[in-house]
Amino acid sequence: MILETERLRLREMTAADLPALRAILQDPVAMTAYEGAFDEAMVRDWLDRQLERYRNDGFGLWAVELRSSSSGGPDSAGDGAPVIGQCGITRQRIDGDDVLEVGYLFNRAHWHHGYATEAAAACRDHAFTVLGADRVYAQVRDTNLASMNVAIRLGMTVRSRFVKHYRGIDMPHLAFAVDRAG
Ligand SMILES: CC(C)(COP(=O)(O)OP(=O)(O)OC[C@H]1O[C@@H](n2cnc3c(N)ncnc32)[C@H](O)[C@@H]1OP(=O)(O)O)[C@@H](O)C(=O)NCCC(=O)NCCS
Repeated sequence: MILETERLRLREMTAADLPALRAILQDPVAMTAYEGAFDEAMVRDWLDRQLERYRNDGFGLWAVELRSSSSGGPDSAGDGAPVIGQCGITRQRIDGDDVLEVGYLFNRAHWHHGYATEAAAACRDHAFTVLGADRVYAQVRDTNLASMNVAIRLGMTVRSRFVKHYRGIDMPHLAFAVDRAG
């Protein structure tokens, strides 16, 4: 287990989380900002990238479980609690700088409960207190209002605009960030 909040538990993902990952990454609505649903190979690449990040950096996107659930559901990795989303810290390059970013993608069935903000706030604090970051970013496509609202709830402000080339498309993005207090 990496982090615990009032309602959530964050832990490293494993191959047992593939069903929960598919439920997010293959949902065309959830993946609007990523230009649509992923196919199976892209889901597996996504998981492999997180496992590689755990090995190389010691952090990455983690599985978010609901603490209150004791029974395993279809998205459970087998240890009881269902995985409702992914949230964590990744290294990114923004405007030529190597930065730490908090990322969050949740299963649509679990939107609008404050879970993304709760998990992301714990990750932001982890980046400041454990990883020693002075600033934490969130890069958000300029059409992704729900994600911008999470960034704003994390105390972030817009620092710059940039264009990301992803899946063959130029996607305008906003770089949100929050600085360590004091
Ligand atoms: C981005 C994403 C995680 C945001 O999810 P979200 O549900 O809007 O955000 P939160 O979990 O923080 O929930 C906030 C909402 O819960 C409500 N809420 C209900 N109970 C709450 C509680 N106990 N505490 C806090 N907020 C609560 C808030 O009022 C807010 O309402 P709103 O949705 O009407 O604004 C989600 O849209 C998503 O997974 N999108 C697809 C992936 C993606 O684009 N990720 C971002 C890439 S940059």
